[in-house]
Amino acid sequence: MNDMLGDWKRSHYCGQVTAEDIGKEVCLMGWVQRRRDHGGLIFIDLRDREGIVQLALDPDRDPESHGKADRVRNEFVIAVKGMVSPRPEGTVNPKMKTGEVEVEISELRILNTAKTPPFMLDEYTDVAENLRLKYRFLDLRRESIQRNLILRHNVAQTVRHYLAGKGFLEIETPVLTKSTPEGARDYLVPSRVNPGTFYALPQSPQLFKQLLMVSGFDRYFQIVKCFRDEDLRADRQPEFTQIDCEMSFVDREDVISVMEGMIAAVFRETLGVEIPIPMPRITYSEAIDRFGVDNPDMRFGLELSDITDLVRDSGFKVFTDAVKNGGLVKALNVKQGGGFSRKELDDLTEFVKIYGAKGLAWVKMTENGWQSPIAKFFNEEELAAINRNLDAKTGDLLLFVADSFRTANEALGRLRGHLGQKLGLIDRDAYRFVWVTDFPLLEWDGETRRHVAVHHPFTAPMDEDIPFLDSDPGRARAKAYDLVLNGSEIGGGSIRIHDQTVQSRMFSLMGIGEEEARNKFGFLLDALDFGAPPHGGIAFGLDRLVMILTGSDSIRDVIAFPKTQKATCLMSEAPGVVDEKQLKELSIRVIARPK
Ligand code: AMO
Ligand code: AMP
Repeated sequence: MNDMLGDWKRSHYCGQVTAEDIGKEVCLMGWVQRRRDHGGLIFIDLRDREGIVQLALDPDRDPESHGKADRVRNEFVIAVKGMVSPRPEGTVNPKMKTGEVEVEISELRILNTAKTPPFMLDEYTDVAENLRLKYRFLDLRRESIQRNLILRHNVAQTVRHYLAGKGFLEIETPVLTKSTPEGARDYLVPSRVNPGTFYALPQSPQLFKQLLMVSGFDRYFQIVKCFRDEDLRADRQPEFTQIDCEMSFVDREDVISVMEGMIAAVFRETLGVEIPIPMPRITYSEAIDRFGVDNPDMRFGLELSDITDLVRDSGFKVFTDAVKNGGLVKALNVKQGGGFSRKELDDLTEFVKIYGAKGLAWVKMTENGWQSPIAKFFNEEELAAINRNLDAKTGDLLLFVADSFRTANEALGRLRGHLGQKLGLIDRDAYRFVWVTDFPLLEWDGETRRHVAVHHPFTAPMDEDIPFLDSDPGRARAKAYDLVLNGSEIGGGSIRIHDQTVQSRMFSLMGIGEEEARNKFGFLLDALDFGAPPHGGIAFGLDRLVMILTGSDSIRDVIAFPKTQKATCLMSEAPGVVDEKQLKELSIRVIARPK
């Protein structure tokens, strides 16, 4: 039987006992991080949320407590009373906040025992992530992950405080709802009382926040869970959190300036870092041209060059064919990359193939000119023109991809990011923001043979591009903007369509018939007919933002109970099989049998 807490009240968090408390009686509670036996003396590192403090138990001071201390093991829960004392000469630990003191224990209570944890709860032991996720409640005891979640809390507090101060109202929107088009698959929830029908979990509160503007709330925000059934990556979860905002009577500049202030406040409050605002901006087409991707990492150079015009008449069929088919030839100059081995070049080739490139042509710049399997296909003039364009110098490595506009840019743009990491070009302490603006409104989907919205179907076209909706829809640009930080898209938004006729036109361009539009978003179309103000907004990925603020490599390190890449929870074992009775009530028959 364990000791009782009784009338003991904690006086301090473990991590907050410092030299200033010397001579005070304290009462502490927490988990045993480690116990060491030094002859008669027992030392215990006691841990709570705020940190670790050293306890000292002398058999002569209190034999009973000493006897209990002898029984405690790692992760036992104990409460102690004692006197804060300076550590003996030579045992001070300047790395710890509590490193100058120890607590001389006069009474110890064992509040609970613990089995031996399945892994060491420290920062140094390499533990398979699956095991950590299975015992997430233990993993969450580790200092680094506690720090991440505390910082996440601080971000949320700062955001609430900032937005409320700017007149934003926090309003909840439904979780059991209808499909919200953000481009991913929906998670569905069957309705028991309406057999055969389903709710969809929101991919975002997009429609509802627009309706709140129509209702006159003027400024809305919500820190809200969103659900998307999509392929998961290191920075994606099936349920994630948005800082979701919407404003009325605004244009792009208003949204951007309020949000820059919010992000600056977050960095100031959580890291003490001052972010210069206004933040830089580039257009979508400039981003693609220079970096190959719409989420460029601005912490390093290594920009892409378009050499299409220099090679269109060359003797290298791979290049000329790509150009003939309407594609591009783009290149990177990896300064001083001429030392790459054959194996490394093969690996880079495999890397670009992930993004659909058919190959990667390379050139090593030597004192005698091009060393390359493709050198023979170019004449002197062409070689000189390419060298000039790429500023190629002895020792450099030139890399080329010839493909469609999309593939050439994406493959080489991703390769740029990969090389930035591999070659250590990235300043790990820098925070480089960039707004990407002027996205295309629509893109052509070859598979379904229709236009789809690049952002979402409620995004307004640029005023001057509205005529393109009739003549050349692919050319129309959108009033959409993304905020990119260190190569990660941390937020995206747009000015919305508030005119019913423009909205209907958008749906028809996307091949969404009147009936389908009515069926899916009839309530929004109705609302636009009843005095919708001009409005716009944005949503930030809170998890991604916290990942960057904490320097985490995985989104799972900033979420208390995350899902695996296969969208499962290893701890609760969700998703799970349900019993026949429950299925029957829901009028559902399952045709698959889980493995
Ligand atoms: P969007 O789809 O761009 O916009 O989402 C906004 C931000 O949410 C984050 N995000 C994710 N984070 C983790 N896991 C995911 N699966 C995931 N998907 C998105 C990204 C992204 O920038 N309704 C619009 C916003 C608007 O127009 O106001 C929307 O949802 O950081
Ligand atoms: P090949 O003539 O197919 O042997 O290709 C010669 C070199 O060009 C090899 O290094 C290939 O990786 C490269 N290559 C092939 N296709 C492309 C392409 N679309 N873009 C750039 N390089 C390519």
